[in-house]
Amino acid sequence: MCGIVGYVGDSTRTDARRVRELLLAGLRRLEYRGYDSAGISVIEDGHIESVRAVGNLDALQAKLAAGTRASGTRASGAPAAAAAAPAPASAATEEAAEEAGGQGAVAVATRPAATGIGHTRWATHGRVSEENAHPHYDSGDRVHVVVNGIVENYIALRDRLIAEQGSVFTSETDAEVIAHLIASHYHGDLADAVRAAYAELQGHYAFVAMSLDEPEVLVGARKECPLIVGRGEGEQFVASAVPAFLAQTRRVQYVENGEIVVLRPDGVTITTPSGAQLQRPVETVDWDEDTAEKGGYETFMLKEIHEQADAVADAVSDRTASGTHVDLNDVGALDESILSGIDRILITGCGTAYHAGLMGRYALEEWAQIRTEIDVASEYRYRRQLVGPGDLVIGMTQSGETADTLAAMRAAREAGASVLAVTNVVGSQATRDADGVLYTRAGLEIGVAATKTFVCQVAVMYLLALKLAELRGTMKRATLQKLVGEIKRLPRAIAQVIDAVTDPDSGEPAGAVELAAERDWEAGFFLYLGRHIGLAVALEGALKLKEVSYINTDAYAAGEMKHGPIALLEQGTPVVVVATDSPVKDKVVSNIQEVAARGAHVIAVAAESDRTIDAHAQQVLRIPDVDWMLQPLLGTIPLQLLAYAIASKRGLDVDRPRNLAKTVTVE
Ligand code: AGP
Repeated sequence: MCGIVGYVGDSTRTDARRVRELLLAGLRRLEYRGYDSAGISVIEDGHIESVRAVGNLDALQAKLAAGTRASGTRASGAPAAAAAAPAPASAATEEAAEEAGGQGAVAVATRPAATGIGHTRWATHGRVSEENAHPHYDSGDRVHVVVNGIVENYIALRDRLIAEQGSVFTSETDAEVIAHLIASHYHGDLADAVRAAYAELQGHYAFVAMSLDEPEVLVGARKECPLIVGRGEGEQFVASAVPAFLAQTRRVQYVENGEIVVLRPDGVTITTPSGAQLQRPVETVDWDEDTAEKGGYETFMLKEIHEQADAVADAVSDRTASGTHVDLNDVGALDESILSGIDRILITGCGTAYHAGLMGRYALEEWAQIRTEIDVASEYRYRRQLVGPGDLVIGMTQSGETADTLAAMRAAREAGASVLAVTNVVGSQATRDADGVLYTRAGLEIGVAATKTFVCQVAVMYLLALKLAELRGTMKRATLQKLVGEIKRLPRAIAQVIDAVTDPDSGEPAGAVELAAERDWEAGFFLYLGRHIGLAVALEGALKLKEVSYINTDAYAAGEMKHGPIALLEQGTPVVVVATDSPVKDKVVSNIQEVAARGAHVIAVAAESDRTIDAHAQQVLRIPDVDWMLQPLLGTIPLQLLAYAIASKRGLDVDRPRNLAKTVTVE
């Protein structure tokens, strides 16, 4: 998840320096979306001045302060002297520019302008490097774009543009293809070129483009990822989120899914992909800056819970684009030949990452029928290493910096096992301690209690299990295809779960979750129970409650109850039971009867169509009817919100719980 921002203003009132300041200020407000590299491009004196830098915005600011000739800076177009008759960018104009000893400067571009675009990156495709930082540009350096999201068919488009147009690509990213594609469709009207490119692009993204040939225009397009316009007087803003321009204007227009927006200093036009004009209301937002940074939510944790559908879309969409099989070509050295030779897997991680690994284990055993063990990293690292060649050790770590998990990965690697890191942070230590990396692409997570990184970890573990099932031939093609389709639709199911138990305006917990929290927010003890893959949900739900509410909470394999923990139950003890569909569902129902008989207040997590559970539980948190192995991912979300609701009622700081750190870099 990256941050994009664009500005177009009246050049009689604004100069390039102010444009840069506005873009930089906007990017600072979007830095919570990702900050491994950044860049801006501004049209100035007949050329595009582009500056990119690796690292957070301070690095970019330093480059800008050092003046435009610093390395990593580029100026496209020739000095004004080279001006010729205004015409759309074409071979002729290029020639004129060449003649003028520069790239692409023509009369059109000497019109004064106050236009620019900026980007802060959270890498998904391609290393963290200056070349991969945005803005990206076409071979003629006339079209610059900033992109948030993923282009699923970028390889096919890139190969065609190279073959047919001789396009020269300068980065490893999927995003760059958009600049070349727009340029290939450019015939004097940027909006038309963007619409033509939009028709060919597959994926979920939002982008903003600018062209040297139309210096007072910005054109944006949205497919799933957010894009919002900030309306000014004689100036317009466009960005991934409101905070980017809130200091300048509170008047916003939301670009809906599948729409194109054209911004000029004096106005904004929103159209369909075919060009039909649309009316979109100008609304006023009354958020303060702090709320704005949280996307209008009270806390980062709540914002990140609401981002889970988009995050999982980022994690799975291009990897399931075929609709028939899983594509994990971005895992690096651990390619299919190695994966198909693996006959034993060991998963390790800490806290929530361990729970995600546990869910992955059930999918690996069930779908790929591969022996899979799991252990917490702080234990695994000191066990005798009985792994070796032919074994795959998976290190689960969203931050990629957790000391115990890194040590466990290194120990396994030294013992000769192949090591895969499942992580969220490009360039983190885990990526260097592994032979292959499976990125979860959840974007930056600020709340200490992991939420969206968890569901993305589970989603990519599902993908890995399906990939191994395909390579090992342990699944019928029809079943594989059905599951690939279901995983592709997970983002929609996640949005359904969240919408069912949150307030549509504030996003705060509501419905069944609010009812459960209202009853037990003062409870002194909670028990969570689950069986099979449901146990991982119980463990994760319990951890969330412990982390943010500080209530004494336990989670147990439901079958273990009668061997001790059942003694903890009293009249009214809240017991959360994960009763999603599974091969042991009946056993779970009898465990519910067991605890209910001791007076427990049972809150069950169950599938929509399962009405039998109502007879056994006082409350039911429902999830959509997806494949039983996928239900646990969905089942975790109401439990995140339950923990959140209870902690809020207890007046606690859910984003920075006591005694905890987001990344544990010490043993
Ligand atoms: C989860 O909410 C906690 N923040 C914690 O348990 C966390 O999952 C654990 O420290 C592992 O972190 P990692 O995924 O960054 O390695």
